[in-house]
Formats: sequence, structure tokens, C-alpha cells
Amino acid sequence: MRWSFVRAKHVLWLLVALFCLLVIMEVCKDGGGDGGEVRKDIKDVPPVLTKPKKWEMVSSCREDPFIKNITDFAQLPAIIQDFLRYKHCRNFPQILDAPMKCGGRNKSKGVFLLLAIKSSPQNYERRAVVRQTWGEETIYKGAHIKTIFLSGTSKNQREDRRLRQLLQIESEKYGDILQWDFHDTFYNLTLKQFLFHQWLTENCPGAHFIMNGDDDIFVNTYNVVKYLSDKRADSHLFVGQLIANVGPIRNPGSKYYVPVQVYSSDSYPAYCGGGGILMSRFTAHVIYNKSLDIPLIPIDDVYLGMCLNKAGLAPASHMAMSTVGVPVPSKDIDSFDPCFYRQLLMVHRFVPFEMMIMWNAVNDPDLHCGQKLSLYGGASDKLPNKL
Ligand SMILES: *[C@@H]1O[C@H](CO)[C@@H](O)[C@H](O)[C@H]1NC(C)=O
Ligand SMILES: *[C@@H]1O[C@H](CO)[C@@H](O)[C@H](O)[C@H]1NC(C)=O
Ligand SMILES: *[C@@H]1O[C@H](CO)[C@@H](O)[C@H](O)[C@H]1NC(C)=O
Ligand SMILES: *[C@@H]1O[C@H](CO)[C@@H](O)[C@H](O)[C@H]1NC(C)=O
Repeated sequence: MRWSFVRAKHVLWLLVALFCLLVIMEVCKDGGGDGGEVRKDIKDVPPVLTKPKKWEMVSSCREDPFIKNITDFAQLPAIIQDFLRYKHCRNFPQILDAPMKCGGRNKSKGVFLLLAIKSSPQNYERRAVVRQTWGEETIYKGAHIKTIFLSGTSKNQREDRRLRQLLQIESEKYGDILQWDFHDTFYNLTLKQFLFHQWLTENCPGAHFIMNGDDDIFVNTYNVVKYLSDKRADSHLFVGQLIANVGPIRNPGSKYYVPVQVYSSDSYPAYCGGGGILMSRFTAHVIYNKSLDIPLIPIDDVYLGMCLNKAGLAPASHMAMSTVGVPVPSKDIDSFDPCFYRQLLMVHRFVPFEMMIMWNAVNDPDLHCGQKLSLYGGASDKLPNKL
């Protein structure tokens, strides 16, 4: 008798608790929405996005019907087959946009440097730290610096649902996400690059210079602005880590495997490592123009080299840009020494916490660097006076 009374009491309490929880959840949902509105009002930049579409694949591009005509198609690795099936597909719906990033087409000449960072949806921490360090939108010596992240979707359906939510939140909060409805895979990076150039032509054609790179590079943004201060936006400029006299890797086991069915010549035109490339608006527009006629190949940085080559333009190297880690000049110098990074423009492969430490260290006014490392070939001494 007494036992069942206790049980009933417990069940009653449980129901009451459950009811309270539901009420709280409802209140939070509304409250959260309001919170979002308040944030929007505080920020002077209105969040810019289009509402997310349905979860299902929206693109209607069909597999190439002549795919079986390719010699030995069936023998190619599945990933290459997949690439060849869809390589003609270039129109993918944009899920998140930031059309006013540069103040609109007509005002985009006011942007000096656009940081366009390739970032897979799951790389939340990298974007978070880039926003707080070298990718912070600011005005440096009169030069307006703007930042966008370029993203696709996750191949994994369950993960994709959540990551779309994540990017939507980031877009509302920071207005810096461009997301297209294609799988953000290694072999689709060229597609991402193409869609970025298309977006740039539409929405930000006036930006003077573009720093295009990965989300794990460290950029000394202020040095980049100084370096660009005597360059012309309407002249050719394409610098990074120059890679010349190489050709496609024909070993099917390599990450960079490119069979003859994808690229027949045995040599690539000169190109710059895709980790970080600096280009002028002139060159960015030429690349877009040429890309309309050049079939995509899966290696994005080589593809840019092909576009330049077709336009009769050459990529250039810059001593202070390295996409393969740090070329430490001597054994006596610590590869994590801020004095070293202070002179660089860009280095590949930093984990988020290193990015934070290094950004603060190189911008520390109390950092005294006795030793001259002269990575610019002497030019570094002149740089601070240029602007
Ligand atoms: C592909 O092969 C078929 C025969 O198998 C032929 O009829 C067709 O014209 C070929 N298409 C192209 C584009 O080569
Ligand atoms: C931008 O400039 C073009 C040509 O000068 C003009 O036709 C268009 O209305 C302008 N757009 C905006 C949004 O001001
Ligand atoms: C590129 O993205 C498209 C659209 O999501 C997808 O169908 C295709 O499989 C992807 N290609 C590669 C090589 O990952
Ligand atoms: C793009 O290229 C075409 C020729 O392929 C040329 O007529 C046109 O002027 C170019 N446009 C730009 C903006 O360079």
C-alpha cells in the first residue's frame, strides 16, 4: 500500500519535472532568438545570408553521359571516377552568402585586401582563431581588410545536418561564410576556387588584392599590407611559393595521383603552392575569365597555374611565403621564434593555439629582435616607411 503510494509520488514528481523542463526549453528557444536579434542590432554590419535550403542535394547536374568512353575508365580508382563523372558540373546552389562583404559591387574598390580562406565546414576552431588573429577585419594604415571563409558541405549526411547549422550560426554572427552545396573534399577544391572567383566577380570585383589560402596558415597581415602598398591592383601579381618543372604524379597510391585520363601532358605549368597565394584584382579576374574555358582538374593550385599560363602570365615566388613549413635559416634559431615570423608574410601549418601565441608575439611592441634575418633580401628594413 505504502510502497505504491511512494511510487505514485515519484511518478508525479517526474511528470512535474518533465513539464518544467519543456517550459524552460520553450522559453530558451524564444529567448535565444531575441538574443540573436539584439546581437544583430549591436553590430553595425548587418548579417548577410540566404536562408538555408532543404537538406537534400539541390544540384541537378547529371553525371557525364560519355564517361564510359574514357579509356580504361573502369580501372581508375573510385575517387577519380567520381571526379570525372561530375567535373563538368560548376553550378552549385549557394547556401550561405555575404553579398555585402565589400560594401556591394560598386563600393568594393574601398577594400584593399580580401582574405579568402578555404575552410571545410568542420574546421570551426581554425575559423574562430583566424577571426581573432590575422583574419580580424580591420583598417591598417588606411587599408580596409575583409575576411571570408569558403566552404562546401560534409559528405557524411548526419554530420552535414549539424555542420550546416554551425555555418548558419557563424554566418549570422560574423557574416563571413560563403557556403556552396557541393561536397567539400580534396578533389573538389578546384571547384571551390572557381566558385570563389565567380563570387568575387559578382560581389567584390573592386577589391585591390586577394590573399587566398588554407585555414591553417599563419599570415602576417600587416606585413602583407606593407608589401602590397607599392603594388598596383590593375597589374599582374601572383605570388607565393613557386613550384616549377614538375608534372603529374602517376602513382595511384599518391594523394596527388593524376592519371592521363585527367591530365594528359607530363608537365604542369609553373604554379604557386595553394596554401597561400597573394594576387591582384587584375590577375584574379584574368583567372576567372580563363577558367571558363579550361576543364577542371582535381589539383586546385595547378589549375590556377594553367589559367595563368593560358593568359600568358607567370606566377612568382616570394621568399617570405612558404607553404611547406618554416625554412629556418640556421640551427641556432628556434623555429617558433616570433622574430622570425615577424618578417614573414605567410607560413603553412599552424594549429589554432600556435596561431594565437604567434600573432600576439609578432605584434608585441616590446618584442625586440636584435638579429636581422633579412628574409626579404634586405627589403624588410625599408618596409615600415612605405605607408
Ligand atoms: C561514346 O561511345 C559511343 C559508342 O560506345 C559512341 O556512339 C559515342 O559517339 C561516343 N561519344 C563520344 C562523345 O565520344
Ligand atoms: C552600380 O553602378 C552601376 C553603373 O554605374 C549602376 O547602374 C548601378 O545602379 C549601381 N548599383 C548600385 C547598387 O548602386
Ligand atoms: C564534388 O561535389 C559533388 C557535389 O556534392 C559530388 O557529387 C562529387 O562526388 C564531389 N567530387 C569529389 C571528387 O569529391
Ligand atoms: C575575357 O576573355 C574574353 C576572350 O576570351 C575577352 O573577350 C574578354 O574581354 C575578357 N574579359 C575580361 C574581363 O578580361
